[in-house]
Amino acid sequence: MSGREPLLLAIESSCDETGVALVAGGRRILAQAVASQIALHAPAGGIVPELAARAHLRWIVPALRDVLESAGVAIPEVDGIAVTAGPGLAGSLLVGIAFAKTLAWAHQLPLVGVNHLEGHLYAAWLLDRDEPERPAPPFPLVALVVSGGHTFLVEMRDHLVYRLLGETVDDAAGEAFDKAGRLLGLGYPGGPAIAVAATGARRRDAVLPRAWLGSSYDFSFSGLKTALRRQVEAELAAGARPGTEAGGRLDPLRVAELAWGFQEAVVDVLATKTLRAADETAARALVLGGGVASNVALRGRIAGGAAARGLPVFIPPPDLCTDNGAMIGAAGWQRFVAGERAGSDLGARPAWPLVRPFGTPDTRRPPRRGPAARAYEAALAAERDAAGDVPMSVSGEDAR
Ligand code: KG4
Ligand code: ZN
Repeated sequence: MSGREPLLLAIESSCDETGVALVAGGRRILAQAVASQIALHAPAGGIVPELAARAHLRWIVPALRDVLESAGVAIPEVDGIAVTAGPGLAGSLLVGIAFAKTLAWAHQLPLVGVNHLEGHLYAAWLLDRDEPERPAPPFPLVALVVSGGHTFLVEMRDHLVYRLLGETVDDAAGEAFDKAGRLLGLGYPGGPAIAVAATGARRRDAVLPRAWLGSSYDFSFSGLKTALRRQVEAELAAGARPGTEAGGRLDPLRVAELAWGFQEAVVDVLATKTLRAADETAARALVLGGGVASNVALRGRIAGGAAARGLPVFIPPPDLCTDNGAMIGAAGWQRFVAGERAGSDLGARPAWPLVRPFGTPDTRRPPRRGPAARAYEAALAAERDAAGDVPMSVSGEDAR
């Protein structure tokens, strides 16, 4: 191992991308492969779980072979294996987990189970193969994760220590984009399609409602989706108005304007709350992750706000915002360093939350903690006592 950084083989199969990567020292991507299932699920307009699991099974071995070949690495040279254990689709997770456990057993390698959401966060730490070294995000920081299944804002004062600031009370941001894409006839997935359509908007004045939810850091997108649906229905019913084609479809230019208005409403709420959280927690940096973080308008708004505050912002390139294996290598590395190991009983945890409500014992607590984490936990405990142990709401909590 001397002379080189420890190497993790990372596997991601929680949703509709089969991702395999080799990551050195938790940051440097030596090679990665992502087999996307977008074309497979597009005809259904959404992910079909059974098809997803079968496609993972079909592509996981070629993806591994591809990665090992392009890095010129053989499995015995690897120091450990990281695999997504949840949250996600049970059948899809099981493919990756069974594969990782088999490799770990056959090659006598240590294994660690990784939370997919932690992966989206740690994507901001990754460096591409030939990218020059750059500093890692400094703590404390505020991180926004916006994916197809999750939307939440956390404060991080140290590695692996999260304080949930807010989360969606209904749809995830990506889910809202996907539904809006369907409403506008833009196909699947809706996020990238809306982003592209919005660039064609000539008039940029469509105003759709924002749910601010008072001073909380929570998000809500279902009212926005309903407002868009009503707007589309009203414009179609008005039929003869200019910009409406015969045959019950909106004119592409009008679709572009509404796509712009929808994107603007989502981005406005996400960016405003994230920047306010940075101010109120005295963050030293901002981190973005998840598929929706590849949205150019959101990246621009966050980067602009961060620049105005003199804060560095860490947003992975688009291919590391959407699901991939490398991000599991980055998060898995932190878990490895903290001494975590998974046994042959590692199972899928489809509803595994990243942040637990107060009062729930965290069985995955890392054994080694820095002084910042200890101070932070003491502060949290004091806050919890003062608040009378009010649980934070976390959706999809599982029992373990
Ligand atoms: O993180 P991800 O790849 O998968 C999950 O873990 O869910 O996120 C996928 C989501 C989809 O809902 C997709 O529509 C959205 O990310 N997305 C975007 C963009 N690219 C992907 N949303 C808005 N703008 C984009 N450019
Ligand atoms: Zn994801």
